[in-house]
Amino acid sequence: MTSKTIVVVGASRGIGRAIVELLAKNRSTKIYALARNKEKLISNFGDFSNVHCASFDLSHSIAGQLADIFQEESKIDILINNAGTLVNKPFESITHEEFTQSYQINAIGVMETVQYFIQKMNASHSHIVNISSMGGFQGSMKFAGLAAYSTSKAALCSFTELFAEEYKATNIRMNCLCLGAVQTEMLEDAFPGYSAPLSPQQMADFIVDFAENASRYINGKIIPVSLSTP
Ligand SMILES: NC(=O)c1ccc[n+]([C@@H]2O[C@H](COP(=O)([O-])OP(=O)(O)OC[C@H]3O[C@@H](n4cnc5c(N)ncnc54)[C@H](OP(=O)(O)O)[C@@H]3O)[C@@H](O)[C@H]2O)c1
Repeated sequence: MTSKTIVVVGASRGIGRAIVELLAKNRSTKIYALARNKEKLISNFGDFSNVHCASFDLSHSIAGQLADIFQEESKIDILINNAGTLVNKPFESITHEEFTQSYQINAIGVMETVQYFIQKMNASHSHIVNISSMGGFQGSMKFAGLAAYSTSKAALCSFTELFAEEYKATNIRMNCLCLGAVQTEMLEDAFPGYSAPLSPQQMADFIVDFAENASRYINGKIIPVSLSTP
């Protein structure tokens, strides 16, 4: 089997960290772990010689940052767009800045990231996995306070369908996983005191298997991955 090169955005903590830890066990896989906090990335993954840590902020200059990190890399097999940000506030008090930051990080920044990687991914049969939320899944139960978060995650779902259609003649497949509750710091911000049925490691097991294998069968799909409400 040929070795894969995999990019995980949002790898400094929570589910993204667990994804990289799992991927890194396969020493033939080359992993790029991205997030704003490079020190945290290095402290998480410094012991893995197959993990490359790089500082990356979805809130600005996406193409320029990625060009600096990936200029020597000709082929990317899997991109996992896991980074996300959450605002939990009554609708009327959400500021313009909070709306725009939520959309920039959860949707626009992901689209700009994908724009950058298209040329590097079309060379092989490749898979882009977008991590959305049950809050962004059409028809799911919605929760007060999450207007900026859930609507921006819904935009990510819509982008997945759009991209799969526009790029159906290429080698790139894209799918979107709408996660239910996983025990992370973000969950604690959204639902203080709530106990989730899954750990980041358990969810990472599913995401890694999906990212590595599902693109042979699935394209442009929005898939709920949830044991609970929320
Ligand atoms: N936990 C849940 O119950 C749950 C449920 C549904 C969906 N999700 C989704 O699953 C994904 C992971 O969630 P999580 O619970 O693991 O969240 P988390 O613990 O808050 O981790 C979020 C990750 O995103 C990165 N990030 C945030 N802002 C960024 C930016 N501007 N640029 C680059 N990276 C940024 C963070 O790193 P830095 O701060 O170092 O940049 C961190 O590594 C998110 O997309 C979330 O919406 C989670």
